[in-house]
Amino acid sequence: MVHHDGFQTVKATIDWEHPMFKLYEKAKRNGKWNPADIDFSQDQKDFASLTSEEKISALPLVAGFSAGEEAVTLDILPMAHALARQGRLEDVLFLTTFMHDEAKHVEMFSRWQQAVGIGQMDLSVFHNDHYKRIFYEALPEAMNRLYADDSPEAVIRAATVYNMIVEGTLAESGYYTFRQIYKKAGLFPGLLQGIDYLNMDEGRHIQFGIYTIQRIVNEDERYYELFIRYMDELWPHVIGYVDYLTELGKRQQQLARTYALEIDYDLLRHYVIKQFNLRKKQISRTKRVDVVEGLEKTAAES
Ligand SMILES: [Fe+2]
Ligand SMILES: [Fe+2]
Repeated sequence: MVHHDGFQTVKATIDWEHPMFKLYEKAKRNGKWNPADIDFSQDQKDFASLTSEEKISALPLVAGFSAGEEAVTLDILPMAHALARQGRLEDVLFLTTFMHDEAKHVEMFSRWQQAVGIGQMDLSVFHNDHYKRIFYEALPEAMNRLYADDSPEAVIRAATVYNMIVEGTLAESGYYTFRQIYKKAGLFPGLLQGIDYLNMDEGRHIQFGIYTIQRIVNEDERYYELFIRYMDELWPHVIGYVDYLTELGKRQQQLARTYALEIDYDLLRHYVIKQFNLRKKQISRTKRVDVVEGLEKTAAES
């Protein structure tokens, strides 16, 4: 895009009823939290009170979250770029909040790591090949392609990896697991509060993904098959990573002398499968997402 042909807000106005404008409004209203205001002092005491085995058991999930939030922050820009080239003003308005949300998510996890004393610990050892395939390769590949190619295929692929797999399947399952373990144990109130905020933000991000994929499918039904194919292509890596976390956790539990945390790893596996199938179901050959009610109804289905 070297030149602009004209400007929407000069010829007319923003489309106030546009689903992405409504989502932008929601983001401004609900996304006001500040990671710097979260009190991690109890988290610090809690972490210090854990046995070394229990401490280690928290690290793989943290390693997954931190890198995941950093990756999605670094990789969202090409989506804004592609939609700007297409003149999708309301989508771009929403994406300005999206990137800010992700920046806060990165900050929140990094502050927590710092607060509990693991800020300088390299956790990349917990990224197995499946994790790397998704976060180190598939995500940036699909997103960066958008700089040169904003075809329906390229946009669907990017939104599938980013919104439906990374956010809608992996991140959502990660938050769920984290809550299951640490809420039950009465630990890490600061981080749990942060994750509640994150979850709200992610809800909007997934709505963006559903909207973006569905509007393309509505224009041409053949793209539905493409979406399903991309989801299935990534699935072995999703479950491969989850199985690795499960194995790691079970081994740690067996080796530990003292271990008070209650972790049901099978529950995590079932949750991931459920999330993956839900994301698939949220796109259909005919769903209406051109009005915000339709989009919200679709996103709320579970
Ligand atoms: Fe995030
Ligand atoms: Fe997100």
